[in-house]
Amino acid sequence: MATSDQIKALLKSHAEGDDRRFYSIARQIAAQAAQKGHGKMAQEIKEMLDAIVDKPANYVHIDRPNTIPLAQPKGELGGLISVEYSNLKLDDLILPKEVEDRLRRVTLEHRQKSKLQEHGLHPRSKILLVGPPGTGKTMTAKALAGEMHLPIFSIQLDRLLTKYLGETAAKLRLIFDNVKQTRGIYFFDEFDAIGGKRDIGNDIGEVRRVLNSFLQFIEEAGSESLVLAATNHPEILDQALFRRFDDVIFYEMPDKELILKTFKVNLKSKNIKDISWNKVVDAAATLSYAEITRVCEDTLKTLILEDRTSLSTQLLIDIITQRIKTKS
Ligand SMILES: Nc1ncnc2c1ncn2[C@@H]1O[C@H](COP(=O)(O)OP(=O)(O)OP(=O)(O)O)[C@@H](O)[C@H]1O
Ligand SMILES: [Mg+2]
Repeated sequence: MATSDQIKALLKSHAEGDDRRFYSIARQIAAQAAQKGHGKMAQEIKEMLDAIVDKPANYVHIDRPNTIPLAQPKGELGGLISVEYSNLKLDDLILPKEVEDRLRRVTLEHRQKSKLQEHGLHPRSKILLVGPPGTGKTMTAKALAGEMHLPIFSIQLDRLLTKYLGETAAKLRLIFDNVKQTRGIYFFDEFDAIGGKRDIGNDIGEVRRVLNSFLQFIEEAGSESLVLAATNHPEILDQALFRRFDDVIFYEMPDKELILKTFKVNLKSKNIKDISWNKVVDAAATLSYAEITRVCEDTLKTLILEDRTSLSTQLLIDIITQRIKTKS
């Protein structure tokens, strides 16, 4: 049975929102129960703990002190970071299974953080997303935020780099202090602006310094928050950067199967059974997920505006052709 000290410590850790301690005491109680021959009770406590940690709905509760919703950061930081909340889920993304599995692995490791930490391990917390425009990198950041019930802080790199070039390291420090203090998803979009070997403002030394500060900060960032960086220019990223991330996830243009899925998901409620999908998919072969999503929106609008009830292969192909023309 739990001792009175353990019960008091449980209540105290709960009141203080110290979930790590709460779970560690509860596991201690289970271990002692097992030692004393109360195997059933020990097993029940362990199963209850695993169920709580596994259940996404309880995620916020687990790390309550750091996940209290925040207003937009104020002062200097306010000009560099914008915050939002998202209801998107990983299920909303259409991705190859391998990419989806890797994203789910990120959420799993964060959900089971305490369990990993008991063994001296930390969840993946620095991820680089690489891929062409319109393949779902920004959407992934939002879906992870929705899935993990965390706010998403987007870093305005243009302001960080152009306006305050000379002071960029100091600004980065401000941001990374926030990464440590306030649990969230920190999203560095168009990351090549920082991570690139390109010379910005003709001052290569300055860019190097910025990159070095970033590497140092990311190293010290801990694993409470998730730092995400996205780029569509992997070729200009410094090799040192690839090593500093816990994971680098590559996004690609959709293959035929994923093109089809993107159409079907986005045209969901329309009568689509008579469509010659092979022709549509071939016509859309060069389009990204974002462009296919736009084609579907345009198609649905056309149906409404022209009071048409059914969708035709030709209409879809016409709208795809228009979209391809706007690309070139
Ligand atoms: N993999 C995807 N699954 C479902 N929808 C997608 C996907 N990729 C893109 N979309 C759609 O396209 C929109 C724009 O995509 P998103 O902003 O995530 O692309 P991105 O990879 O960040 O592009 P960029 O490199 O230009 O920033 C999304 O809001 C969504 O509607
Ligand atoms: Mg983006």
